[in-house]
Amino acid sequence: MGGGVQAESLSIVQDLAKLELSLAKDTKWLSERKRSLKSKAKKSVRFRPEVKSLIDQVSSENLKESVLWMQGFGSRSHRATDPNRPVRALKEKLEALMAPSKLSYKIEEISHSRTNQNTIKLSLMGSKEPQKKVILGAHFDSISGWMSRTAPGADDNASGSSNLIEVARILSRSEPPQKTIEFFWYAGEEGGLIGSAEIASGYEAAGQQVLAVMQLDMTLYPGDGPFILGSVTDFTTPWVRELLGEINQTYFQFQINDFECGYGCSDHASWYRRGFDTVAPFEARMRSMNPDIHTSRDEVKSSYNFEHSAAFSKLALAFALELDER
Ligand code: BES
Ligand code: ZN
Repeated sequence: MGGGVQAESLSIVQDLAKLELSLAKDTKWLSERKRSLKSKAKKSVRFRPEVKSLIDQVSSENLKESVLWMQGFGSRSHRATDPNRPVRALKEKLEALMAPSKLSYKIEEISHSRTNQNTIKLSLMGSKEPQKKVILGAHFDSISGWMSRTAPGADDNASGSSNLIEVARILSRSEPPQKTIEFFWYAGEEGGLIGSAEIASGYEAAGQQVLAVMQLDMTLYPGDGPFILGSVTDFTTPWVRELLGEINQTYFQFQINDFECGYGCSDHASWYRRGFDTVAPFEARMRSMNPDIHTSRDEVKSSYNFEHSAAFSKLALAFALELDER
């Protein structure tokens, strides 16, 4: 009987040893996984000359031309009598812009259930991992507090819309991306983030693989001074904000000040609410924001700065290319 007890305690000791070994393995695996996830988030941005040469192609003249063109519609309100007149014109502009491109691309007009205005989407198809997507967005609609007045929306948000056109122009003339890069010109943002909310909800339902979403809304008025940017801290994701900071350190050294909107102030919030990772660089801190938005005075004028705005096309380009490489 004594031998039986001895044999039993021996097997318990052996089981314990096995358990400790497997625990040690799990701990090692966990710490390696943790390190790799951290380094993925932290992975410092390496300067790439080919990215710099694309950044150098951003033209503030192009931005000016494009913003003047958009403000010329008088209004891009989602509640206008023909809310898709400027939207169709944008689609045609993009078709002309993309026609000479050798890349595989798609331009779509997306209708919505809560607004009569449509969203425009441009996709540059990824050559290696097309299912993985980097999203750059801007709202194309405008608003004016006064029904009878025009809503030129030059800063809010012909500026961000034009930033995206310039990024698309440059990427369309360069090497195909590995991942799919999607551009959105959203409808009905001023009506309560309508277009982006419907799109983000569809992406969540379809389980789309989105690496990150950047929103450009108001980039033309340097309220804190030229090349002093803001970065929204609510409804945005820490690792994407940090990535933007590293990209800035590597390629630009703009000053970027964090600030809180205090509510879902633009379309990044629609994506964030659906669990996607977002970032939203902005023309200045909120306290120094453009006093003329949502009025007929939001037109191109001397206090608007197209070099300042160009910084946002440059950041968006570097952002898309950096995520494309990871
Ligand atoms: N561009 C503004 C958001 C904004 C304004 C951000 C000032 C930072 C400073 C945007 O077009 C807008 O007007 N959003 C609405 C909210 C939306 C839910 C209707 C707003 O801020 O009232
Ligand atoms: Zn607005």
